Amino acid sequence: MKHLIVVAHPSASSFTMALTRLYATELERLGHTQSTSDLYRMGFNPILNAGELAAADSGRVADSSARAFPADIAQAQRHVREADVFTAIYPLWWLSMPAIMKGYIDRVFARGFAYEPADGIVRGLLTGKKCVLITISGAPLTALAKDGRWSAVQALQDTHIFRSAGFEVLDHLHLDQVQPNLPVAVAERHFARILDCARRHFRGRTVWAEPAIG
Ligand SMILES: Cc1cc2nc3c(=O)[nH]c(=O)nc-3n(C[C@H](O)[C@H](O)[C@H](O)COP(=O)(O)O)c2cc1C
Repeated sequence: MKHLIVVAHPSASSFTMALTRLYATELERLGHTQSTSDLYRMGFNPILNAGELAAADSGRVADSSARAFPADIAQAQRHVREADVFTAIYPLWWLSMPAIMKGYIDRVFARGFAYEPADGIVRGLLTGKKCVLITISGAPLTALAKDGRWSAVQALQDTHIFRSAGFEVLDHLHLDQVQPNLPVAVAERHFARILDCARRHFRGRTVWAEPAIG
């Protein structure tokens, strides 16, 4: 299977980037192919500007699938289209995604590519694709879950973005209590969970089997 990993963290030596490299290496070890779009190192431009927005709006009556996208976005969309599995990896910043990842969603998951509005609601166009979300926080997950903040994350990110775009969300792996000077035991527990996530979903599944008919 082909995996596209999209990761957002400014520091190449961060724990988030170490987790990403481990996940990518494990997918390859399991016989999958992957490519990683490292948004900061690529210098991805997250700003949806007026011209691009106008192009989106002008296509509203016409067939929006025929819309021309800027070259960087057309290339990013080709990577999504070619992937069987889309994996997003990012720390939670103010319980949201870093702005560069949000800008990736704004620009790449555009109308006509990731969704079409239908009667006021969104019809996802990326159906048939799987998605894995891997997020990282400083706070313990139990604290976030206790007062509803974790449910809000899941509603706004898993459902409102990824499921709305048509993905089947296989997993949302959340690694919590990631602080500077992380104790070895905590880091090793997170590394083990990353490996387990890759193996649980993808070991022995290098190709999709067609469902049997009849
Ligand atoms: C701008 C910013 C906002 C953050 N907001 C939150 C937050 O709302 N909740 C939380 O638990 N952690 C928050 N954190 C901490 C990160 O989610 C996380 O601990 C850390 O960035 C991930 O580890 P790494 O940077 O070592 O890869 C924030 C960090 C930054 C830089």
